[in-house]
Amino acid sequence: MSKKIIIANWKMNPASSQEAMSLFSGISKNVSQIKKTIVVICPPFIYLPSFSKALAGKGKIKKQISLGAQDAFWGDTGAYTGEVSAVMLSDIGVKYVILGHSERRVLGESNENINKKLKSAISANILPILCVGELERDENHEYFNFVKNQLLECLNGIPKNLLYKIIIAYEPVWAISTTQNRRDATPLDSREMAIFIRKIISDKLGVGMKMPRIIYGGSVNNKDAGEFLRYGGIDGLLVGKASLDVKKFTDIIKIAENENN
Ligand code: PGA
Repeated sequence: MSKKIIIANWKMNPASSQEAMSLFSGISKNVSQIKKTIVVICPPFIYLPSFSKALAGKGKIKKQISLGAQDAFWGDTGAYTGEVSAVMLSDIGVKYVILGHSERRVLGESNENINKKLKSAISANILPILCVGELERDENHEYFNFVKNQLLECLNGIPKNLLYKIIIAYEPVWAISTTQNRRDATPLDSREMAIFIRKIISDKLGVGMKMPRIIYGGSVNNKDAGEFLRYGGIDGLLVGKASLDVKKFTDIIKIAENENN
């Protein structure tokens, strides 16, 4: 069984570098016993260099944690005001990047752009976390086609032997904590979509190829993380709101560690 991966998406939080460092060291202290779970923290860009230094230093920050960014532009350098490239992130020790999050898609991020970003991230040796997920569920189950289309367009032209590097995060937008009138998704919702995504990818890959990991995100907390990991058909979790709370987030990591046993 592959190691479970627990990823924190801090979004545009917290407001100061002091709060950010205290959250980061709080989590880091609590994961000192974690051996079998991969923990990734994706803070706003601006906090990455200091976290990276803390991880490289001799202090109390535990090395169990890897760093991720919440976006990375395509290309290495160039005339793209305001953007940060995967190469720059890799240079400061960032190992993962979230791409295609629904909160970026509403700001105009297209599958075509995400596809370019995925390719650049992979060539910069950063592991992409590709977010897919429907806005709504409809009675005719059209949402399966919606997710399939997102996947196929985002993965277009990526060599088969590199697909396993991508972590696919199924995040139904209707279940994300900040969505208005949100509803809870169940581990069964996660499981059916994970099976569907695996089928799409294995049709693309054929037999014998290493598969990407599939994770779930959408209001996961320390109360339901175990159920999602056990019954959701997934290899890990992408956690937003609960990752801003040291206790809740480290509880989730400990739950994953137990599931790895
Ligand atoms: P949430 O966020 O856990 O706050 O719903 C998940 C995400 O949007 O990645």
